Amino acid sequence: MAKRIDGKAIAAQVRAQVKNEVAQMEEEGYTPGLAVVLVGNDPASHTYVRNKKKACEETGIYSEICELPETVSQQELNSLVQELNRRPDIDGILVQMPLPQGLDESAVINAIAPDKDVDAFHPVNVGHIMIGDFDFLPCTPAGILELLHHEQIEVAGRHCVVIGRSNIVGKPMAMLLLHENGTVTICHSKTQNLPELCRQADILVSAVGKAKFVTADMVKPGAVVIDVGMNRDENGALCGDVDFAQVEPIAAAITPVPGGVGPMTIAMLLKNTLTAARRHNR
Ligand code: GUN
Repeated sequence: MAKRIDGKAIAAQVRAQVKNEVAQMEEEGYTPGLAVVLVGNDPASHTYVRNKKKACEETGIYSEICELPETVSQQELNSLVQELNRRPDIDGILVQMPLPQGLDESAVINAIAPDKDVDAFHPVNVGHIMIGDFDFLPCTPAGILELLHHEQIEVAGRHCVVIGRSNIVGKPMAMLLLHENGTVTICHSKTQNLPELCRQADILVSAVGKAKFVTADMVKPGAVVIDVGMNRDENGALCGDVDFAQVEPIAAAITPVPGGVGPMTIAMLLKNTLTAARRHNR
């Protein structure tokens, strides 16, 4: 039976550490600040943003949510970001994705000052990650790396298979595993023999967004399985990409959904905001 990797507990440790460091900064007269830009009425995005604000409050980070209607123009959205770029009390800026139809995600990402880009979505930060010389890592892949380190799971020399090639998760995840000296395969919707490739993985990361996509026949006995999915199953219950009941008995370690990768994402956002604040304050 696989060890369940307790993301909730590991995230709580990271948050406690951030809280301590924020308190230290506070004593020096500086409060880190995060602005979260939320456009439109997507219920999931509203939930994510509320959780981010709550996590900031618990850690002592100042936060504000800048809500805009879905009818906002690209120019108004970019102007808001530029105003936040200039504000000395704001260290980090996050624009919650996805944006409503008609708004250009890359245009707004390009408008964020790279030193306030706590999502690490700006091309300058993406380039830093490619080279391996970075201040910020995207929160989800960074959280997964933290889980692997915490569990003392060796990446070097092992075959890591990432399913999904998004700019937010798949691509940066693959690059981070490569920096850790893993041998990395990226699979996607056009991949041939996907189950066969997955079965070769020592570390399998799934970020496809399809319930029960990863079945037992796709997992090598003794593999580490990281599930980034946030889906609803046929009964409407929250579930990941991995058929947990099937895979748990054969994997060496597995992240549950909920309580695996998800809590780490917010913890890493707090960490990135603290990093940004330190750089602005020194
Ligand atoms: N939507 C889903 N994940 C993310 C994330 O990590 N950052 C932002 N800004 N939007 C998201």
